[in-house]
Amino acid sequence: MRQVENDIKANFPQLRDTPNKEVYFYNSALFDGYVDFIKSHSLFIRQVFIKPDIKKRVIKIVKKTTPSLQERDITWKDLMQKARKTKNDEFYTRYEDIEKEIKMYSTDTWRNKVVFCNCDDAVGDIPRNGNNTSAFALYFIQNFMQLGLKKLICTHYSGGINLFNAKGKGYIFTKDGFQEIKSEPDNYTGSFDDPLSIKILNEDAEIVCTNPPFSRAIDYWKLTIESGKKFLIISNYTNTINTAYIPYFMNTKVWAGHSRVRWYLNPKKELVTAAGHWFTNLPVINRPKGKCLKIISLADIPEKYKKYDDAETLLVDNGYIPSDYEKPFAVSANPILDGLLERGYKIVQDKQYIPYIAGGKKFARVLVQKI
Ligand SMILES: C[S@@+](CC[C@H](N)C(=O)[O-])C[C@H]1O[C@@H](n2cnc3c(N)ncnc32)[C@H](O)[C@@H]1O
Repeated sequence: MRQVENDIKANFPQLRDTPNKEVYFYNSALFDGYVDFIKSHSLFIRQVFIKPDIKKRVIKIVKKTTPSLQERDITWKDLMQKARKTKNDEFYTRYEDIEKEIKMYSTDTWRNKVVFCNCDDAVGDIPRNGNNTSAFALYFIQNFMQLGLKKLICTHYSGGINLFNAKGKGYIFTKDGFQEIKSEPDNYTGSFDDPLSIKILNEDAEIVCTNPPFSRAIDYWKLTIESGKKFLIISNYTNTINTAYIPYFMNTKVWAGHSRVRWYLNPKKELVTAAGHWFTNLPVINRPKGKCLKIISLADIPEKYKKYDDAETLLVDNGYIPSDYEKPFAVSANPILDGLLERGYKIVQDKQYIPYIAGGKKFARVLVQKI
């Protein structure tokens, strides 16, 4: 046993500096590595499984507590509208998509920073897992030490998927080093635009990181960008060609992060697809997707990827960008996501551009021009 202990100490020297062994339980990668090491040790004999007690199923009879529609003074139509809106918002980000994006930024980005996840529902009880905890919260809790975070603050929104729970409580989860606190301030809704959430955003947060509700994205972007804080968030990738957001791209208040986010989990934990992409104001160095842009002379762009609309505006596709065209031309969302605005081009119209060809309306684009 002593030999195994000494070998563990020699192989995991960094853990000896960690004052609290909590780190094993929060960092599954570290824990797995630790277990693998023990299993591969020459003195390892065998793995013993302990069968959990099989508990008898107890059926509880719960009194009906949900107030009727009449008692809550709302109509069936109101409820259905809320249900539709809520359904579109309940797309949960997968852990691996968060991990993949965050790894793209330099380690200095996170070191000693206060991260604020202001749409991150349930920071559940230990043991935490993807079923009871937002993957953003889980990722930052599990990687708190590795990223060198100063503090993590996550807020729980009271008006989530429980349509009948009119009085759900918002709460704030804070992890400060090894200390974790959950507080439920009076009258706090947990909404990102609740006065207390705005106070945390302005006074405490250094980097905001979440996937906000699609139905409130316009308000969310405005609040976050106006706060002047750093952010890394998921939103619809067509925001790049949507009039509500184009001015932010035009004025370099935001740019694309690295990856598209196609897959999410619904409340039943089934895979569902949506048109998400990361957006940020953190530095994106040597954007790998920049190589999707083919910046070449207009004459060399294949005919099928360049055309003129009824207003004689040039439209280019498939990543082709004319290097020698001086007038504005129209592109779809992809070149903006692939970093066109970092390659000597600018947006020249603060609203979307709708091309018409032979009188027929085409997909919206954005007008850009060589600087
Ligand atoms: C697209 S989901 C993403 C959830 C979580 N951030 C994630 O990435 O898995 C948006 C979440 O925001 C919640 N939400 C809706 N309105 C909100 C508000 N005003 N403030 C904060 N969260 C809100 C929804 O209940 C939903 O859980």
